[in-house]
Amino acid sequence: ISLGLMSREGQDLILAGAILSITLNPLVFAGIEKLQKLVFARWPRLEHSYGMARHDHLCRELSVIGAQREERNRQHHLEIEQLTETFPLFAAVDENAQEELLLLFRPRSASPGDRVIRTGDRGDSMYFISSGAVEVKLEDDEVPLGAGSFFGEMALLTGARRTADVVAVDFCQLLVLERRDFNLFMSRHPQLRAAVSSMAQERREMNVMRQRRDQSLDAG
Ligand code: CMP
Repeated sequence: ISLGLMSREGQDLILAGAILSITLNPLVFAGIEKLQKLVFARWPRLEHSYGMARHDHLCRELSVIGAQREERNRQHHLEIEQLTETFPLFAAVDENAQEELLLLFRPRSASPGDRVIRTGDRGDSMYFISSGAVEVKLEDDEVPLGAGSFFGEMALLTGARRTADVVAVDFCQLLVLERRDFNLFMSRHPQLRAAVSSMAQERREMNVMRQRRDQSLDAG
C-alpha cells in the first residue's frame, strides 16, 4: 500500500475489511458472552462440565509444569553432587557457593596435543579437569593430572607469569574459572583459597626439589 503498487479497488477492499472487523469484533465478543450465559441458564449441567473441563485442563497443565520443575531441580542436584564427587575440594563450601560456582564455570574442551597453558603467559584463568588428562611440562619432567585435579592456580595467586606449559594428553572436559571470578569467589571463601594456595605451595616445593635433583644428577 505504502509503495502505491496496489490498485485503488484493492486498497478499498482492504479498508472495507478493516472497518468491518473493527465494527464486528466487539459485537461478536459481546454476543458470545450473552449466548454463553443463555445456554448455561437453559442447560446448567453444560456450564458445570464446561467449567470442569477447563479446570481439568488447567490441573493437567499445572502438574506438567510441576513435573518439569522437579526434573530441573533433580538435574541441578545431580550437577552439584557430581561437582563435589569429582572435586572434593568444593565440599568445603556450602551449597549456595557450589551453585554459584556452577554458574561461574565456563566449559571448555581440549583434544590431545592442545596446549592449554603456555609458560610465560599472563594468567587469566584457572582450570578444573572434569574428565580427561593433561601433562604439566616441567623443564626435565612431566607431571600428569587427571579428572578432579586443577591447574593454572599459581599465576592467579601470585600475579606472576605461567610457570609451565600444560598440554592435553586425552580428550578433556575442563571447567574454566576466569581471573575476576576467581578473585571474587576466593575472597568470599578463604578456606577454599587456603586449600588452593597450599596445593600451589606443595607444587612449588616439588618443582624446586626436582630442579635440585636434576642439577645434582647433571653435576654427578
Ligand atoms: P600456572 O603457573 O598458573 O600455570 C602452569 C601450571 O602448572 C601451574 O600454574 C600449576 O597449576 C601447574 N603446575 C606447576 N607445577 C606443577 C606440579 N609440580 N604439579 C602439578 N601441577 C603443576
